[in-house]
Amino acid sequence: MLVTGKEILEDAHKNGYAVGAFNINNMEIIQAIIEAAEETKSPVILQASQGGLKYAGIEYIEALAKVAAHKAKVPVAIHLDHGTDFDQVIKCIRHGFSSVMVDGSKHPIEENIAITKLVVDIAHSVDVSVEGELGKIGGVEDHIVVDEREATFTDPDEAVRFVKETGVDSLAIAVGTAHGVYKGEPKLDFDRIKIIKEKTNMPLVLHGSSGVPYESLEKAVSLGINKINIDTDIRAAFAQAVKDFLKENPDNIDPRKILGPARMSMKEVVMEKMKVFGSVGRA
Ligand code: G3H
Ligand code: 13P
Ligand code: ZN
Ligand code: NA
Repeated sequence: MLVTGKEILEDAHKNGYAVGAFNINNMEIIQAIIEAAEETKSPVILQASQGGLKYAGIEYIEALAKVAAHKAKVPVAIHLDHGTDFDQVIKCIRHGFSSVMVDGSKHPIEENIAITKLVVDIAHSVDVSVEGELGKIGGVEDHIVVDEREATFTDPDEAVRFVKETGVDSLAIAVGTAHGVYKGEPKLDFDRIKIIKEKTNMPLVLHGSSGVPYESLEKAVSLGINKINIDTDIRAAFAQAVKDFLKENPDNIDPRKILGPARMSMKEVVMEKMKVFGSVGRA
């Protein structure tokens, strides 16, 4: 069933677990995520990035995700990931997304608050949830010297102000994760998660979570993370399965034979994550 992001994340916040938010770009990925959610009785968030919407087309993403959500026996939210363009955020709301992220993190806090609040006022009037971002969650390719690393992290007092002035339903925080494949092992600022949770007492979001060791994710969840974004690990499973299949079957040209094992492999990755996040059996 299709539900709002708020509905899913409020329960996770209240009961101390996290829900996986997995990036969707095509039918096989969506099916893999939904099958994993149903098999583990886990609520789940399907999220499309601006790149994903451009690749598939918003109408296809909308149609595929809605069929998946309506058919599913578990709660499913359809969410825009990293909305940096106001018009696109509004377009997603019109297309029936039940949640949107406003990513104003590249702007100074005043501007970030203004952009985010504008979306919150519109989205809440039609019962759509909003995730904001404070601090900078970069990519692994964004070279930041160690001393400057903490300057990109979310400031707990600014987080309190941001949440109060914008009215967001959840907050993405920068605490040491990065998008993409890590070169070394990511070091999370656990104290910061704990302090932000105590000060804001609301659902918190961890981006860039592919490649983060499971003990770190479990600890982050125990300290207050309630939404965990995963994209790269699904991509890796997809690509590996396609490569393996074609290596063994170089003459096979049937897309169903090529993508079937990839779908299975992505489903296994998603199920494994759901167990770590603690969302299993919560649906
Ligand atoms: O946050 C980034 C997500 O992994 C989406 O990546 O913009 O290449 O679709 P993308
Ligand atoms: P990863 O690709 O590192 O899993 O990050 C995903 C993400 O944060 C999407 O918003
Ligand atoms: Zn992200
Ligand atoms: Na990552």
